[in-house]
Amino acid sequence: MMDRLSGPPRLMIVSDLDFTMVDHEDPENLSLLRFNSLWEAYYRQFSLLVYSTGRSPTIYKQLRKEKPLLTPDITIMSVGTEIAYGESMVPDSDWEQCLNLNWDKDIVTQETAKFPQLIPQSDTEQRPHKVSFFLEKPNSSEVIKALSECLEKRKLDVKIIYSNGTALDVLPKGAGKGQALAYLLRKFKANGRIPLNSLVCGDSGNDAELFTIPEVYGVMVSNAQEELLQWHAENAKNNPNIIHSSERCASGIIQAIGKFSLGPNVSPRDIKDFGKCRVNVFSPGYEVVNFYLFYERWRRAEVEKSDQIFQNLKSSFYPLGTFVHPCGTEQPMKKCTDMMERLYGDKQGKQYQIWLDRVSTSQIGSDSWLVKFDKWESTGEERYCCLTTVLLTTKQAEESFTWMHIHQTWLDGLEAKDRSVCLCSTMSNNANSEDEVHHLLKGAWSLSPCFGSLKGAWSLSPWIKLKLPLKRLQPCGSSNRIAWFLGDLEGSKVSDLVVKVRLGARRHKNRISGAGRGEL
Ligand code: GLC
Ligand code: MG
Repeated sequence: MMDRLSGPPRLMIVSDLDFTMVDHEDPENLSLLRFNSLWEAYYRQFSLLVYSTGRSPTIYKQLRKEKPLLTPDITIMSVGTEIAYGESMVPDSDWEQCLNLNWDKDIVTQETAKFPQLIPQSDTEQRPHKVSFFLEKPNSSEVIKALSECLEKRKLDVKIIYSNGTALDVLPKGAGKGQALAYLLRKFKANGRIPLNSLVCGDSGNDAELFTIPEVYGVMVSNAQEELLQWHAENAKNNPNIIHSSERCASGIIQAIGKFSLGPNVSPRDIKDFGKCRVNVFSPGYEVVNFYLFYERWRRAEVEKSDQIFQNLKSSFYPLGTFVHPCGTEQPMKKCTDMMERLYGDKQGKQYQIWLDRVSTSQIGSDSWLVKFDKWESTGEERYCCLTTVLLTTKQAEESFTWMHIHQTWLDGLEAKDRSVCLCSTMSNNANSEDEVHHLLKGAWSLSPCFGSLKGAWSLSPWIKLKLPLKRLQPCGSSNRIAWFLGDLEGSKVSDLVVKVRLGARRHKNRISGAGRGEL
């Protein structure tokens, strides 16, 4: 289960999702993204991320599609009744066995049916060890008391939890978020891998139990529900290891990391001038997180466009290194950095966010590292992800890395839908000058076999489309093509021309010296 780590985790974060890790009132997910870059830059390698949510697997997976949530090491779902490990979410069947003790779902269903105030939740939220309802706040304590007496009479050991002033869950007595965590800690102990520190984070009633586990730090986020704060006032007021943060959701978690001195607590996202001054952190994980933050801001024009910043950046890329684009094409690194320079501000004022997930580093030589991660990009409506591997090296006595090689592969089902996006991300999207047109077409012309049969065609092949005034579509001698074309272009209105070139991996794979998509 914890094979990823070679020793005890330095920090284990056990966090609720809705309104704790995820702020549903923060449409740009800023606090979550702050947490993500902190976690991936400093913690991923030696720590454990555990989600503990009331959601069933079905709606947990939905949330992961909607929000930029990192991949956790362990997922505890359905209010501590289901535990799953790793990315593939292997269920812990021992835990489910334990919960069968003195539990009978049918009896719970029969007894709860006697209460008209209890409105059943959707089918997805009814689980083998969890029966869930909506219950309005007024008189909720009376209903809970009466229900609990009924179930006691039927000799069932249950736990009734009221959350968010709306939801009521009936679970086996031994279940719940706290019990699930205690079970995990027992397992870790048996393996000699008790985390050095654990921090639990929550906002509502079903999280209260998390704060009862001995030797954990706890944060109730600033936006915590009244029922949790009340529970705290009555049961844990004097525990100095539990705080009520002054910041909301994931930002409250970061605040708690600082308050309890559990490790670095400045998110790389909070460092605004990182283009100028290199922060003194020598870690491959930090390097990649920081670079992609820069890249996001560069494209959003949120960093200054200065030659010095760009030259600095360029100097970290080995010009003769190779960049393997997820489309399958190879480019020299220099071409990528040139292109990046031109992409400045192309996402200005737009929703555009990048975050890294599952950053893992292995040292493969005295001065070289392989860093592997998922690179996510979101444009608001669309989201895509590349599995990325980067080879970093460092020169002795130099406190900085050189990017030697980058290799990206689309993650299944998460390819950029418009295949030309893969070009846009490395090539100029909008050609603004004739120079750029030249550049664009030079790339296109190098696909010459297709251009040979251009006559009168608008669509050359499934992957190459040229929209040009027909009179220009005359084949001519191969070596003259570019000159001819540009010559012709000079006398024409630039707005006549729309060039769309799609890189098809098939025929031209690895033989394309450049291609682009531009609209003029
Ligand atoms: C989540 C679950 C719901 C549960 C609530 C409180 O919203 O989907 O079934 O009642 O958490 O635990
Ligand atoms: Mg919550």
